[in-house]
Amino acid sequence: MRRRIVAGNWKMNGSKDLVNSLVGQVRSEVASLDNGVEAVIIPPALFVSDVVRLAGGEIAVGIQNIACWDSGAYTGEVSAGMARDSGCDYALVGHSERRQLFGETDQQVAVKVGRALASGLNAVICVGETLEEREAGRAEEVVSAQVRRSVAEVGGDQWHQVVVAYEPVWAIGTGKTATAEDAQAMHAAIRAVLSALGAPADEISLLYGGSVKADNAAALFAQPDIDGGLIGGASLSAADFVSICRAVPGRS
Ligand code: 13P
Repeated sequence: MRRRIVAGNWKMNGSKDLVNSLVGQVRSEVASLDNGVEAVIIPPALFVSDVVRLAGGEIAVGIQNIACWDSGAYTGEVSAGMARDSGCDYALVGHSERRQLFGETDQQVAVKVGRALASGLNAVICVGETLEEREAGRAEEVVSAQVRRSVAEVGGDQWHQVVVAYEPVWAIGTGKTATAEDAQAMHAAIRAVLSALGAPADEISLLYGGSVKADNAAALFAQPDIDGGLIGGASLSAADFVSICRAVPGRS
């Protein structure tokens, strides 16, 4: 059975005050949901320990990026092992902002995925095409290649720690969302790629991200291959984030 996950990526936003006001509220409201959703908060790394403490094990916590290395002279970097040690369950890897602004390559993403899994973290591998690539009819080709290269180091028994998030770059922070049908088609394509690689594709959770809000989440999450969402802006409001968590359909 696939996990139903709603993860809030705060990006470089938030403060101690936001941590203190939001986490407790999300925790108590998510606890009252009966749809089996796993809520994850992914704050800036400095706030991870505070979020872990306030989440009390009822909300999972993630880190937005990890290093390609385990330890050593890499000033400014944080390793997967450190994130795990601090109470993280998840690591985002290969977010499009890291690919575009920091030049992260599929090869680096693959190494980071390997580090995350070896440290006991679940890796949320982010993939997605640009508007130019979509308009050129290349979206599926681009995303499929990203998936294949990003999972190059995943071993046979590690697939249960892998989550893939499809985030079309043109939908991130723009208010434009893929239609539920287009998102479903891409998720089905990603599942087919995973299956062709020999992964237990039916057990791998696939998330949609890109301008997910309380009013469009239900239609997206109702799609057969969309198992939840990766939420940016709307995750900075407890009420909006909880509404999106609530939009996950219950299991019949
Ligand atoms: P928005 O929900 O703000 O579009 O961000 C999506 C995202 O990049 C989550 O990782």
